[in-house]
Amino acid sequence: MDRISIRGGAPLKGEIPISGAKNAALPLMAACLLSEEPLTLTNVPKLADVVSMADLLGQLGVSADWRPGRTVGEGGRYVLTAAHLTGTTADYEIVRKMRASFLVAGPLVVRAGHAKVSLPGGCAIGARPVDLHLKALEALGAEVVLEEGYVIVAAPKGLKGARIEFPIVSVGATENTLMAAVLARGETVIENAAREPEIDDLGRCLIAMGAKISGLGTSRIIVQGVTSLHAAEHAVLPDRIETGTYAFAVAIAGGEVELTGTRAELIGAVIPMLEKVGVEIKETNRGLSVHRNGVRPISADANTAPFPGFPTDLQAQFMALMTTADGTSRIRETIFENRFMHVPELLRMGADIRIEGDTAIVTGVERLKGAPVMATDLRASSSLVLAGLAAEGETIINRVYHLDRGFERLEEKLSRVGAQIERQSA
Ligand code: EPZ
Repeated sequence: MDRISIRGGAPLKGEIPISGAKNAALPLMAACLLSEEPLTLTNVPKLADVVSMADLLGQLGVSADWRPGRTVGEGGRYVLTAAHLTGTTADYEIVRKMRASFLVAGPLVVRAGHAKVSLPGGCAIGARPVDLHLKALEALGAEVVLEEGYVIVAAPKGLKGARIEFPIVSVGATENTLMAAVLARGETVIENAAREPEIDDLGRCLIAMGAKISGLGTSRIIVQGVTSLHAAEHAVLPDRIETGTYAFAVAIAGGEVELTGTRAELIGAVIPMLEKVGVEIKETNRGLSVHRNGVRPISADANTAPFPGFPTDLQAQFMALMTTADGTSRIRETIFENRFMHVPELLRMGADIRIEGDTAIVTGVERLKGAPVMATDLRASSSLVLAGLAAEGETIINRVYHLDRGFERLEEKLSRVGAQIERQSA
């Protein structure tokens, strides 16, 4: 199994191109199921999760034509054509590997009248049920039954628009409902919808395919159902979590890096946070420039929250930064109940962190120390990379497959700006 070795202490200098967003690409790919005509996606990141979604779509009868990007900064191009669906089942094997597979449920049931999708089961960061997805599909007229670990969703006569109010904000449930609603008869109103930029991106792609949607970017999305969607081309939006991760990398390692191909509004809550901890961040013609001189970062508190709040997907990386900051920081995780799995690994590197319920209390130390560490999920792994950049000596990160799910060419991007990082193949 591959591992990553990092020798900490080198400041970062240069330019990092930001890839297309994994969490936008996955629902966009599922959206191809809504039309017989091709959906062309550009700026698609080459990631293990994208390959898993393409495999799943292949099993459903979608033909996929992939052209990789030629440079680190250029995303790939997918032409996905769901002219004839040959199946409506998403197997346990694929769903257990990648929960986003559940996003095919809405498009399949509204296009084919039937979907059989494995229940995802447990997850390293929390229970993550899919009850809200299912309640919304039921509200749209689908019949939902559970059989041998699979959810069977049936609507042989199609779906009918409805008013759906989510009790909590859910990105995935909003996406599944939106995709089902675009081909449902009549009007659907989604209240307390998620406002993450990935929802906006999906909505804009669906509009390009002929859907009628208003209220994107607000918590009330209104959809007027249409009878069919057509071919379209759409560029996946830049990855805000990758953007934030590399901004925190500069904050912890020091130096000056331009993050190209990204936009400030995607990381709204992160910019004031960087300024608070003493990092300079400004917009440039090509993206964002992040700069920290030799001075130690200052501690700050963070509470994760749905967009536009501080993202849970950056909590672990921010915690890595706080382990070396001057002072004590309180980091509260409000979205997932078990998203502190990086803490014991950071402790092995000499961090001072105490957990009290949903809050981690981090007291900064002068210097972390390199160690062999292991990660349990994607964002936790990236926090260990950040810690490794600042640590004295060598850090070895095992289970690199977690990183490959969501960070395109991570070691190449970091080594190009001066980090001493390499992948070691076992
Ligand atoms: C998306 O997951 C992202 N994944 C996650 O990124 C991200 O952490 C999360 O949104 C929150 O921003 C993708 O976009 C593919 P939710 P999702 O439904 O949609 C509860 C990463 O590292 N809930 O918004 O699954 C749930 O348990 C990943 O890239 C229910 O109770 O998240 C959680 O507490 C990790 N019932 C809260 O809602 C449901 O039916 C928010 O989850 C659905 C969710």
